[in-house]
Amino acid sequence: MYRCERAKYQTNLVGYYRGSAVIARQWWDRYHRAFPEYVDLMPKLDPMPEPHMYQAYGIYLLENQHRLIRGLKRLYTPSVHGTKAWRSSFLLMDYLDHYPARRGSRIMEIGCGWGPAAVYCAKQLDAKVTGVDMDKDVFPFLEVLAALNGVEVTPLKRTFQQLKGRELGAAKLIIGSDICFWNNLVTPLFNLIGRAFQSGSRRVVIADPGRPTFYELCDRCANRFNVTLTGWYAVEPNRTSGEILEIRPK
Ligand SMILES: C[S@@+](CC[C@H](N)C(=O)[O-])C[C@H]1O[C@@H](n2cnc3c(N)ncnc32)[C@H](O)[C@@H]1O
Repeated sequence: MYRCERAKYQTNLVGYYRGSAVIARQWWDRYHRAFPEYVDLMPKLDPMPEPHMYQAYGIYLLENQHRLIRGLKRLYTPSVHGTKAWRSSFLLMDYLDHYPARRGSRIMEIGCGWGPAAVYCAKQLDAKVTGVDMDKDVFPFLEVLAALNGVEVTPLKRTFQQLKGRELGAAKLIIGSDICFWNNLVTPLFNLIGRAFQSGSRRVVIADPGRPTFYELCDRCANRFNVTLTGWYAVEPNRTSGEILEIRPK
């Protein structure tokens, strides 16, 4: 958490003094002197073990040009946009850095794609994570990311409509990033959230770049559940912004 706060502080500081690295450095040094206890929590620049790897929120990720991804793409062709780690997944990681689940809890990522947020939860929250997607061709990518980070994520092939109450209710927290991008996804997601709460889930968190269909889901949830919609930004691997919808039962 501190690391994240500090990264944001650094971004703002450098942005403010754009074009004046010397002045920024002086401020940075002053900050160190003022808060010496935080110095060890600085965002460290770790060299990547291989080309086309990168890091965000403590997990390793792979770019499309990485040899493993290129190999997998010759064999598997995700067909519903599960083709990379989408930017909203970094919003979700940052949000969960600030509002984490209890360590070791059960978490389900719906529409997981390559599952960057699922891997984050397994690694950083020590969670038992299930990654759900309707497209079986995303799972080899999920498996590679999980293995790269030394964690396991259980794959489950289901559409949002197919997920049963008992499958959903086993997870106290359900997460999703960039999963409400078509009109015909709004109702299945709204119904899924209802089934999840009826079956014992306590919290649903969905990150989105801010698509109209996502806001429609927010409106529908606001009529039936306790919701907060918060503008959010992430700073790793690059600065990105969007929305976080947090939903709890009434
Ligand atoms: C834009 S990608 C986002 C992937 C991942 N959450 C991320 O942020 O990197 C959307 C994912 O949702 C999945 N998806 C779309 N509609 C779905 C449905 N009705 N049921 C289950 N998964 C679905 C797709 O297969 C795809 O992997």
